[in-house]
Amino acid sequence: MESQMRDVPRRRARGRTRLLLGGVCAAVIAVASVAMTTLAHADLSGPPGSTLKAAAERSGRYFGAAMGGDRLSDSGFLTIANREFDMMTAVNEMKPDATEPNSGQFTFSSGDAIYNWATQHGMRVRGHTLAWHAQQPRFWANLSGSSLRAAMIEHINGVMAHYKGKLAYWDVVNEAFAENGSRRSSNLQSTGNDWIEVAFRTARAADPSVKLCYNDYNIENWTYAKTQGVYNMIRDFKSRGVPIDCVGLQTHFTGGSSLPSNFQTTLSSFGALGVDVALTEADVTNASTSQYGGLTQACMSVPRCVGITTWGIRDSDSWRGSENPLLFDRNSSPKPAYTSVLNALNAASTTVPGSSTSPSSPPVSSPPVSSPPASSPPVSSPPPSSPPVTGQPGTCTAAFRMVNTWGGGYQGEVTVANGGSTALNGWTVRLTLAGGQTIANVWNGVNTGTSGTVSVRNADYNGTLGPNATTTFGFLVNGSTNTAPGSFSCTSP
Ligand code: XIL
Repeated sequence: MESQMRDVPRRRARGRTRLLLGGVCAAVIAVASVAMTTLAHADLSGPPGSTLKAAAERSGRYFGAAMGGDRLSDSGFLTIANREFDMMTAVNEMKPDATEPNSGQFTFSSGDAIYNWATQHGMRVRGHTLAWHAQQPRFWANLSGSSLRAAMIEHINGVMAHYKGKLAYWDVVNEAFAENGSRRSSNLQSTGNDWIEVAFRTARAADPSVKLCYNDYNIENWTYAKTQGVYNMIRDFKSRGVPIDCVGLQTHFTGGSSLPSNFQTTLSSFGALGVDVALTEADVTNASTSQYGGLTQACMSVPRCVGITTWGIRDSDSWRGSENPLLFDRNSSPKPAYTSVLNALNAASTTVPGSSTSPSSPPVSSPPVSSPPASSPPVSSPPPSSPPVTGQPGTCTAAFRMVNTWGGGYQGEVTVANGGSTALNGWTVRLTLAGGQTIANVWNGVNTGTSGTVSVRNADYNGTLGPNATTTFGFLVNGSTNTAPGSFSCTSP
């Protein structure tokens, strides 16, 4: 993200059926089966569910998680996943860099391992993602214009052919909007403004059985410009017949109370366009019970909101691990937020359309479109641990941690600490990226510049640091090397 992440993972009977049938026939069966698996058992008068999936299924919804391939050997993770979840997303293994490392050379072993485990345990799978400005194949960096456009189309066709008839949803395009509601500048955007609809048309032709989603973050607040930008694109697509079936709201909440009060309006407004709505990557700083309960309740109140996915299961699985943002702690115990979510799932007031023969859900409202700027996010709590810091002793210091690397970039985290005896009111970290690297996304901070020496200042909600307090910000980098940034300095006004 150019600025901060502000209010910032079938059943076996069907598998047997597919063995008996081929080609187009199998795809048709797959659609019917996916729909039946999702919707068949909705019954709000039934007993409350005692697991996340059972509680979600009461209203014809799912409860999902994301997992990396390394979790396939983590029995603690697998036990909870199998008990609580009925939808799975691969954290990194179905992204463009993972599935097509070299031009025309597709590799699906990592994604398939997750797919196989999930489906063998009765889960459906969300595909994530086909076209994105980050985690791209390295060879895309050498392409532009029509050759990059052709590479994107070839990528979508190659990956979707492999998973044809197998997935419930695909995040076809991820994070294509900027915070101000216009398109994010990226190499894909530079191929022409129509790149998103080309991606969706390609995807529909490649696999007509899977629901096609647009997915983004910071589109939870209805009055925020970015939300409106995405809403207007989907409205335009629907009016022109561009194939799109769903919108994913990542729901990465940062800060102390960043669930917007109008979240339900956002969900119902998207739903009124005739698309499914899903919360696709939920995590909340320090797992606020009120925010988790509130985001769940909002989804349960909107008929087209089909399910919620948390980005990991335990805090130790999280890409924002230092913020402890998930429903299970590092000992695999459910946290208080788990109970908030479970209760809100069981209190669902609507069912997903078509999921129940009981009285239908209330009609979807269509609030007017408006786009004043979003309000500032609230103050965050400090992270729980204080890792060692380097930099200017006694005042503001910054320490870097490499969270994850892949072929074409990395995820970094910086811990900012107040080593002095008085409170800091604001901080700015300067760091120098290696040659050829560019910052793609920053969260819990606001960057100036994207290459070379970049400065990141505090977000609106994490600038005040008491003595010995720390906070973290995170970022994604695209580049041909994974060299860590150097020349760290931290200053405070
Ligand atoms: C994250 C993964 O969780 C990390 O392991 C990786 O280092 C960076 O990407 N939005 C998305 C996800 O759509 O794909 C991102 O996943 C988190 C933000």
